[in-house]
Amino acid sequence: CERQDSRASRERLLVVANRLPVSAVRRGVDSWHLEISVGGLVSALLGVKEFETRWIGWAGVNVPDEIGQRALIKALAEKRCIPVFLDEEIVHQYYNGYCNNILWPLFHYLGLPQEDRLATTRSFQSQFDAYKKANQMFAEVVKEHYVEGDVVWCHDYHLMFLPKCLKERNRKMKVGWFLHTPFPSSEIHRTLPSRSELLRSVLAADLVGFHTYDYARHFVSACTRILGLEGTTEGVEDQGRLTRVAAFPIGIDSDRFIRALELPQVQDHMKELKERFAGRKVMLGVDRLDMIKGIPQKILAFEKFLEENPNWRDKVVLLQIAVPTRTDVPEYQKLTSQVHEIVGRINGRFGTLTAVPIHHLDRSLDFHALCALYAVTDVALVTSLRDGMNLVSYEFVACQASKKGVLILSEFAGAAQSLGAGAILVNPWNVTEVASSIGYALNMPADEREKRHHHNFVHVTTHTSQEWAATFVSELNDTIVEAQLRTRQ
Ligand code: G6P
Repeated sequence: CERQDSRASRERLLVVANRLPVSAVRRGVDSWHLEISVGGLVSALLGVKEFETRWIGWAGVNVPDEIGQRALIKALAEKRCIPVFLDEEIVHQYYNGYCNNILWPLFHYLGLPQEDRLATTRSFQSQFDAYKKANQMFAEVVKEHYVEGDVVWCHDYHLMFLPKCLKERNRKMKVGWFLHTPFPSSEIHRTLPSRSELLRSVLAADLVGFHTYDYARHFVSACTRILGLEGTTEGVEDQGRLTRVAAFPIGIDSDRFIRALELPQVQDHMKELKERFAGRKVMLGVDRLDMIKGIPQKILAFEKFLEENPNWRDKVVLLQIAVPTRTDVPEYQKLTSQVHEIVGRINGRFGTLTAVPIHHLDRSLDFHALCALYAVTDVALVTSLRDGMNLVSYEFVACQASKKGVLILSEFAGAAQSLGAGAILVNPWNVTEVASSIGYALNMPADEREKRHHHNFVHVTTHTSQEWAATFVSELNDTIVEAQLRTRQ
């Protein structure tokens, strides 16, 4: 009875993100196969024990018929997930168009579409309209499932219009919004035609969170410079109403990685990899195949290293795992061919009859294979051109307790602010600098490796995803209590 009471009194947390943490594959007219993806956000929220969590998002599939929709709603309910159904046209305009062809590159400093990307953007206004419409559809689903007292946590650049839509439906709703990408300098945000509308929509939230202090600062500057509002140390004020703005750096569930290394299947993978690459140092890149990850630049830096250090040519191998993503967007298709072309050229140039310098895989690895790969790696290369945080760098560190390998990390990844003291920081655009950092990392003495690893390992195991989620949600609750006190005064 006591257990029931405590469960009944737990607050509900509605997590709203573009994608559900479940991928759905249709098996028949009314049957679905669901696969849970244990990404950063899912493991983070598993740690927030005081809340009962529900997920609201797109299942990543088009379900035009009512029978299919009803069956999917039922199947997802068992996983505490609630789908938002988006038709193909909306997905094309909102997700492929406005989110991935406009906001994503802009927030990563790659600018608004030019030349050939312009052709896909002539319909900027219709894409923005679709974006708003999609956000309204998310808001409707939230409204339908919302119970008074629920905390609503909106995620990422797909849903910048959502806080406003939610508050319009219910002024009392507790709304938080968190951005998983960088928020760029206000000078970059200024170029976006819908710059003001998006800022105002986000400001409707009670708490707005970013990975780093710099992103939060850029957001506040954008609000002051573009909207003429007052920025304070607490956030942004508009006619007496404060939107709290702060940094909440995400982490990983480090225990999950550390524990996995003890599993027999992971040990077997490690043994195989060690035998396969015996006598060679292993360098590793794990990225979504996205232009922000700087994969071509990284591979060119590796080529330069081999060019300048012939003695290393048969003693080092680069394993590049490039997970395909957003494959309907032409820019991503072009990147895939570009990477294949560069890898082919370098392997042709430096390969032998028995070995190649680069193993490039266009697919993801399962969790256990990935942990094994992290654990046998000597040098990890995370050279994103821009990255909100980059959790691959955290995962690598978590798996390196015995090897104490070196992390080469882009200074333009949010992680540089937390792992900078232990990593070798590089400017990923500077191929010469990255090439010489590769040499430095491969030759690094054991005591320096140990010291650098220790710094990062302590950070990764103490700043976990669970702590991140719990801090954001408790700050959101505090913000609301403070706002209520202010209005009573
Ligand atoms: C980034 C975004 C996430 C997104 C993920 C995968 O990490 O911040 O919101 O879910 O990329 O991209 P996708 O477009 O496949 O959802």
